[in-house]
Amino acid sequence: MKLINIALDGPAAAGKSTIAKRVAAKLSMIYVDTGAMYRAITYKYLQNNKDEDFTNLINNTTLSLTYDAEKGQRIILDEQDVTDYLRENDVTNHVSYVASKEQVRSFAVEKQQELASKKGIVMDGRDIGTVVLPNADLKVYMIASVEERAERRQKDNELRGIESNIEQLKEEIETRDNYDMNREISPLKKAQDAVELDTTGKSIETVTNEILAMVEQIN
Ligand code: DC
Repeated sequence: MKLINIALDGPAAAGKSTIAKRVAAKLSMIYVDTGAMYRAITYKYLQNNKDEDFTNLINNTTLSLTYDAEKGQRIILDEQDVTDYLRENDVTNHVSYVASKEQVRSFAVEKQQELASKKGIVMDGRDIGTVVLPNADLKVYMIASVEERAERRQKDNELRGIESNIEQLKEEIETRDNYDMNREISPLKKAQDAVELDTTGKSIETVTNEILAMVEQIN
């Protein structure tokens, strides 16, 4: 099989990372979770008491991705592994705002393009097919109903021992989507040449197989 790059975009909690991980494992490719990069920068923004000087924040930040055989992608921020803090509510509720800043986006996009330059990458995010990898070999735009996305998020939370209210989760997901779709720089949207995949009511295995079938068609 020739080396390819796959771009996987879509709204919050559409199952992108779950599917991207499986597709990458099946095809011996590397999975890159770009949301985690924006989350790490948001974590630092919160640690800095929400200082609004984003130029200063980015100029004083080092960020790298490493891979652990068991735990997968790890995010190293200023020499500290912050991966386990990135799903905290405070980070989730501020990440769309921080990710809308020009300095933050150009810093993250440059790293993402560098990572993908050797090919063999499955990258998920919001602007991968439109901005980061406009020449990706396959672009998938994954969607699902907001009800189902909230239910999936609630189940994820349950597994992590966190109780959550379904109506609140729906509201948080919709707020984040609105922000991500309406920001000025690189808003979330389907690339013209992306395949739209509605995962509502479909199992992880079904969606994974649908994407694997798309990969076979391009090879
Ligand atoms: O995929 P995620 O939920 O971890 O992403 C967190 C946020 O980061 C998302 O609400 C918007 C932002 N993001 C982005 O702007 N561009 C990307 N390529 C990935 C994420």
